[in-house]
Amino acid sequence: MTTRKGILLAGGSGTRLFPATRGISKQLLPIFDKPMVYYPLTVLMLAGVREIAIITTPRDREQFERVLEDGSQWGLSLTYIEQPSPDGLAQAYLLAEDFLAGSPSAMVLGDNLFFGNGVGALLAAAAARETGGTVFGYRVSDPERYGVLGFDAEGRVTEIIEKPENPPSSYAVTGLYFLDGTAPERAHAITPSVRGELEITDLLGTYLEEGALMVETMRRGYAWLDTGTHESLLNAAQFVGALQQRQGIIIASPEEIAYTSGWITAAQLLDLAAPLKKTDYGHYLEALVNDS
Ligand code: DAU
Repeated sequence: MTTRKGILLAGGSGTRLFPATRGISKQLLPIFDKPMVYYPLTVLMLAGVREIAIITTPRDREQFERVLEDGSQWGLSLTYIEQPSPDGLAQAYLLAEDFLAGSPSAMVLGDNLFFGNGVGALLAAAAARETGGTVFGYRVSDPERYGVLGFDAEGRVTEIIEKPENPPSSYAVTGLYFLDGTAPERAHAITPSVRGELEITDLLGTYLEEGALMVETMRRGYAWLDTGTHESLLNAAQFVGALQQRQGIIIASPEEIAYTSGWITAAQLLDLAAPLKKTDYGHYLEALVNDS
């Protein structure tokens, strides 16, 4: 089996969140107690993906490197790739073509937050499929803001449309894409949309046409949180804060996943916890070792 590589797409200008993002990348803004990018990064980790390209803007690259380093502290290997201008999500596959070198991939958008019991199993199943692609549909009240799934009478997916004025369903496609090794060559073949972007929905459409796209529904019980507005950012932080406080857990900790996956030792985890010792996050990491 070819190892699946990861892409974390964290470019973009963040103008929809101005002035909060004037000095810092959107994906580095805090969601409660940790940078936003921790959430999508840990999704890739839960899928068992350890070799990951972080795509950022030239402006923000250094800050991402300061936050995530080379990944070895979490048992990962991180590569940084710059996207000079935000020309579309599908462009990520062109920028990462050499990095992927024919491997299947899991791409996650740096501003997508997922949470739910059993997310790991859902991801593992998608990661295990060697050919074609897998994406996830999620019911939302405002589908016109997303890529939207269209279904036929038998419930089969027939189309994926980007931000339709009249959405064919309430199912949005989340920003998590498991694609096989043909994704870069498909990205070469699509052309920019009227808004001038290489659309991920067009790339997915090529798989759909061939009957090679698996669409899984994330049902109730999974949270896919929006971070597109100041209000939704606050809601996401409150959601994470409430859950962590009530259950005494930390969501989306790369340290914890690396440790429980056996990628780092107890001693390494304690080293990572040491500079965090003034925080609940640090105490939590220490307890992972001391309680086991
Ligand atoms: O969140 C899921 C949605 O993400 C999907 O349902 C849509 O099909 C997909 O197009 C995308 O829609 P958005 O409106 O959220 O796309 P946006 O342009 O905001 O970009 C999403 C993230 O990717 C954002 O954090 C910035 C980053 N980005 C975006 C573009 C266009 C890049 O890093 N590079 C880019 O070229």
